[in-house]
Amino acid sequence: MINKILVTGSSGQIGSELVMALRGIYGSENVIASDKCPNAPEKIKKSGPFEQLDVLDKEAIAALIDKHQINAIVHLAAILSAVGEKNPMLAWNININGMLNVLELSREKNIKRVLIPSSIAAFGPSTPVDNTPQETVLKPTTMYGITKVAGELLADYYVAKYGMDVRGLRYPGIISNETLPGGGTTDYAVAIYYDAVKFGKYECFLSENTMLPMMYMPDCLKATIDLFQADKSTLKHFSDFNVGAFSVTPKLMAESIRKYIPDFEITYKPDFRQAIADSWPNSIDDSCAREEWGWKPSFDLDLMTKDMLEVIGNKHKQGHI
Ligand code: SER
Repeated sequence: MINKILVTGSSGQIGSELVMALRGIYGSENVIASDKCPNAPEKIKKSGPFEQLDVLDKEAIAALIDKHQINAIVHLAAILSAVGEKNPMLAWNININGMLNVLELSREKNIKRVLIPSSIAAFGPSTPVDNTPQETVLKPTTMYGITKVAGELLADYYVAKYGMDVRGLRYPGIISNETLPGGGTTDYAVAIYYDAVKFGKYECFLSENTMLPMMYMPDCLKATIDLFQADKSTLKHFSDFNVGAFSVTPKLMAESIRKYIPDFEITYKPDFRQAIADSWPNSIDDSCAREEWGWKPSFDLDLMTKDMLEVIGNKHKQGHI
C-alpha cells in the first residue's frame, strides 16, 4: 500500500498545489514536501512535513527516505526549458543526475511507486505537429527536452529491468494561479492573466499565432493523481503518456480574456523562447491515457479564463498582487 509519499520540487508551480491535493487524499503527515529552497509556501509548511532537499545530494535523499519510511516518490524537481537554454549544463545536471538519484534509491530501497513527469518538450521539429501521436519521433532541440526523453527511456528501463513501478506523463504548458511557473516557454500563458488584471495589457514573448497544447492546473492535478493511482495492470505504457486539454495561441488567449476585460491589449515581442515553442507540437493525441487510465480533462480555454480572472482578480482586490 502506498502510504508515505515524498514530493521533490514541492515549492514549484505544480508541487505547491500537488502536495496539498495529495495531503487531502493520503493524510497531511503522509506527504513529505521537499524543495531545494528552504522557504516553502506557508500552507505547505503549516499543513504537514517539509524538508529542505537538494536532489543532487543522494545521501540526503536516502536519509529522508529512511527517516520518513517513504514508499512512493513524486519527483518534480527540474529545470524548465527557457532556463535550460540559458544554462544547459545546469539543466542536464539537475534533470538527469537528480532523476538518477531518485531512480537508483528507489531501486535500492524498494520504493513501491515513482512518478516522474515528462513534457511536450520531449518532441522536436521533426515530430508531427498536429494531434501528435503517443509513439512518434522524439528528437528535441532543447536541453530540457533531451533530459525529458532520456528520463522517459530511463524510467522505462527501470520498469523493464528491475520490475519497478515508474510512471510519467508528458505535461503540456500548465496554467495556474497560485505559484508562478519558473523559467518555461509556456509561462506567457500565466503571466498574461496577471498582467490583464493588473495593467489591462500584456507584452507577449511569443508571436500571436504560436499554437501550443495547454492545461489548467485542476486538470494537471487530476491527471497526475489519476495516473499515480491507476491500477498497474491496466497500463501498457509507463513513463510517457501524452495528455492534452486544449490548444491555444497568444491571440486566442487574448480574445478569451477580452470576453471579460473588453479593453485588454496585447503586443508581441518574440524572444529566444519563440524557437523553443516552434519546435513543440500544436496539439496532442492522448487516446492512450484515455484508454489506459481514463484520462479526461474538464477545462477548456474559456472556462479556464473565467476562473483565472476571478481568482487573480480577487487577489488583486485584496492587495496580494
Ligand atoms: N512548461 C514547460 C516549459 O515551458 C514545458 O514542459 O518549459
